Amino acid sequence: MNKQQELKQQVALAALEYFDDYDMVVGIGTGSTVNCLIDVLPKVRNRIEACVSSSEETTRRLKEHGFHVRELNQTGPLSLYIDGADECDSHNRLIKGGGGALTREKIIAAASDKFICIVDESKMVKVLGKFPLPIEVIPMAQSHVGRTIAKLGGQPQLREGFTTDNGNIIIDVHNLHIINPLELEDKINSIAGVVCNGIFAHQKAFSTLIATDAGIMTQKA
Ligand code: A5P
Repeated sequence: MNKQQELKQQVALAALEYFDDYDMVVGIGTGSTVNCLIDVLPKVRNRIEACVSSSEETTRRLKEHGFHVRELNQTGPLSLYIDGADECDSHNRLIKGGGGALTREKIIAAASDKFICIVDESKMVKVLGKFPLPIEVIPMAQSHVGRTIAKLGGQPQLREGFTTDNGNIIIDVHNLHIINPLELEDKINSIAGVVCNGIFAHQKAFSTLIATDAGIMTQKA
């Protein structure tokens, strides 16, 4: 197993301490770090009544492990949401959506009291934007959104052969240097045809657990 995979497993285990109540209904994110979490989730099975899932892939994995998956509309607000990220800055602002599940992830983050982000140290950055920023777009708006993004200074690239769980496309934007994440998140969301973008500045993490060679660090927002 490579070192990054080991760190993902360590941070997934560390997240279990946030399952600190009984009959919890928890939000579960998407991605390879979250997959490590799902694999150890049976350790706290007695605390979990049900999960709300951010993607079809996570739903499939949760069900494989015997967990109940409920729709967010049936549960009301969640006490806890755990998810990974593609980049994280020192204020717990994130880029997410490498797996294409950003819209459902942002909805669950917004509906949860506490969003705990789990990452290995390779995800930590000073300034967001080296990782291409994913934007979920209604298919007919692809060209319009691409042109508008280019005016903002980014290089848009269609994620070829990919359709989101919501039936939309993803445009990945390269070469952004995101000095003001809150402002850019709003600006991109105001482009007609954009469903959601992968900047999580309004929905930043409450705490980020960072797996490092020296152990797990907790970064509070
Ligand atoms: C999924 O759409 C993303 O937001 C993931 O949370 C993100 O890509 C992190 O994934 P990994 O844990 O696989 O790096």
